[in-house]
Amino acid sequence: MKIGLLNSLFLAVTSVLAIDLDTSSKDSICDATSLIQQGILDYYAGDDYGGAVGMFVSPYYWWEAGLVFGGMIENWYLCENTTYEDMLYEALMAQTGPDYDYMPSNQTMVEGNDDQGVWALTVMSAVERNFTNPKDGAPGWLAMAQAVFNEMYSRWDTANCGGGLRWQIFTWNSGYNYKNTISNGCLFQLAARLGRYTGNDTYLEVAESVFNWLLEVDFVVLKDEANVYDGATIEDNCTDIVKYEWSYNHGVVLGGCAYMYNATNGSSEWQTRTEQILGGAESFFFDNSIMYESTCQGSGKCNTDQRVFKAIFSRMLGYTAVLAPFTEDSITPLVDASAAAAAVSCSGGSDGHTCGLDWSTTSGWDGLYGLGEQASALEIMNQLLIHQRPGPLTGSTGGSSEGDANAGLNVSTTNVLQKKINITTGSRAGASIITAIVLGVIILGGVWMIY
Ligand SMILES: *[C@@H]1O[C@H](CO)[C@@H](O)[C@H](O)[C@H]1NC(C)=O
Ligand SMILES: *[C@@H]1O[C@H](CO)[C@@H](O)[C@H](O)[C@H]1NC(C)=O
Ligand SMILES: *[C@@H]1O[C@H](CO)[C@@H](O)[C@H](O)[C@H]1NC(C)=O
Ligand SMILES: *[C@@H]1O[C@H](CO)[C@@H](O)[C@H](O)[C@H]1NC(C)=O
Ligand SMILES: *[C@@H]1O[C@H](CO)[C@@H](O)[C@H](O)[C@H]1NC(C)=O
Ligand SMILES: *[C@@H]1O[C@H](CO)[C@@H](O)[C@H](O)[C@H]1NC(C)=O
Ligand SMILES: *[C@@H]1O[C@H](CO)[C@@H](O)[C@H](O)[C@H]1NC(C)=O
Ligand SMILES: *[C@@H]1O[C@H](CO)[C@@H](O)[C@H](O)[C@H]1NC(C)=O
Repeated sequence: MKIGLLNSLFLAVTSVLAIDLDTSSKDSICDATSLIQQGILDYYAGDDYGGAVGMFVSPYYWWEAGLVFGGMIENWYLCENTTYEDMLYEALMAQTGPDYDYMPSNQTMVEGNDDQGVWALTVMSAVERNFTNPKDGAPGWLAMAQAVFNEMYSRWDTANCGGGLRWQIFTWNSGYNYKNTISNGCLFQLAARLGRYTGNDTYLEVAESVFNWLLEVDFVVLKDEANVYDGATIEDNCTDIVKYEWSYNHGVVLGGCAYMYNATNGSSEWQTRTEQILGGAESFFFDNSIMYESTCQGSGKCNTDQRVFKAIFSRMLGYTAVLAPFTEDSITPLVDASAAAAAVSCSGGSDGHTCGLDWSTTSGWDGLYGLGEQASALEIMNQLLIHQRPGPLTGSTGGSSEGDANAGLNVSTTNVLQKKINITTGSRAGASIITAIVLGVIILGGVWMIY
């Protein structure tokens, strides 16, 4: 009896560990993010028997895994803690696919440009943070990012809306007729980062042209508090814009501008753009300096994907404060207030440190939980450390990743598939049969996974 009682006391003490964040102490921040990452790994499938390495459990899609690993690589770097290094390495290698371009065979049929793009931004962090280089003859992280760049840019579509990437890669996926900011924002930022890292101006020119297109179609509207809208369908030549504003769109475009500012040695044009996009971000996604997903959070309607947007938005605020130092004074108070508020929110669940979605309630956890909530709290807290370590590396400041400017150009899964299943408007029947097969595979796969 006594042993039993002791045991349960011990369990209670070890399992309910609250977060006590001192925003000015690195140890405290890293202890807090360590607990939060344990919560992230509760959803990780790669450690389970039969689970997929580099994937999280349902309902978390492939793209979200790519996003979350980006925040964990940042934490590996900022806290200088190698505990998850091998796990992250295995995850990034498991999902890169046979052509080392983040089109793994079992995602190819459903993958969108935004999915591939978000993974590429994470891989770019591996490049800029000098993360363990691929072994056994595999191409470097830089070559993988270049492969994604080359493939995405090869999909640039001038036939509709004067340019831009479509959301989807494949004709049979719904959303193929939609051009969106996140897909183009990822290409813009990826090009800016490749240009800054390699010193190859071609990437910067592409970044500039993608940004100009976003302006031309009014997905991005520059002014003191700039708007960054979601996208539009091609039927009306991208004029009927879906005017939702999401923090991940704002964040990815903001980060791209900051990289351009830095890569151009501080051009006044990119300074103004960075200021304007940041001005919009400050006014749309903060209330009393506390970050929130304004389009869905107030109404309690954020879906699984939308609950993780604050994570990548936070990461981009941090990069911006470092790469465009004139923004630091504006960004630091937002990060401090939001991270402290997130810590108060991370007080739920049976472990005592499950994070919620709403950080503004002073009473603590709001009862919501999930991978997105954990990842967002991790990434806002990461930013408290952003100025304590060197900024993103380049090839000439100590980066060691091997590149290949031609990666992805000849063995493109995209092209192979496009040729194999050439769906024209004249063969609609073919398209619907393929859709049925794809759906069948997904449904059968789902049923299989339940059993
Ligand atoms: C490194 O991270 C692990 C896992 O989060 C944690 O258990 C450990 O205490 C951390 N080490 C240090 C020195 O903070
Ligand atoms: C998907 O493919 C990757 C390799 O490309 C593999 O590691 C993973 O286990 C697969 N996932 C599923 C759900 O089958
Ligand atoms: C379609 O939109 C693009 C980009 O705004 C514009 O350049 C082009 O002139 C438009 N085409 C037509 C037919 O309206
Ligand atoms: C930025 O400065 C570096 C080093 O002085 C120089 O090599 C590079 O050409 C400059 N880039 C631009 C776009 O001005
Ligand atoms: C570019 O970023 C570095 C940090 O990586 C920073 O020290 C430097 O001042 C930035 N350049 C400009 C022009 O602001
Ligand atoms: C990057 O990693 C390489 C290989 O591990 C190492 O030789 C180099 O010193 C590292 N660079 C920096 C800036 O840490
Ligand atoms: C610069 O990048 C472009 C675009 O990928 C590529 O075609 C070119 O070969 C690169 N130049 C060098 C010197 O690597
Ligand atoms: C692309 O083609 C070149 C020359 O034909 C070849 O050397 C290279 O291995 C190919 N790249 C890939 C990724 O297969």
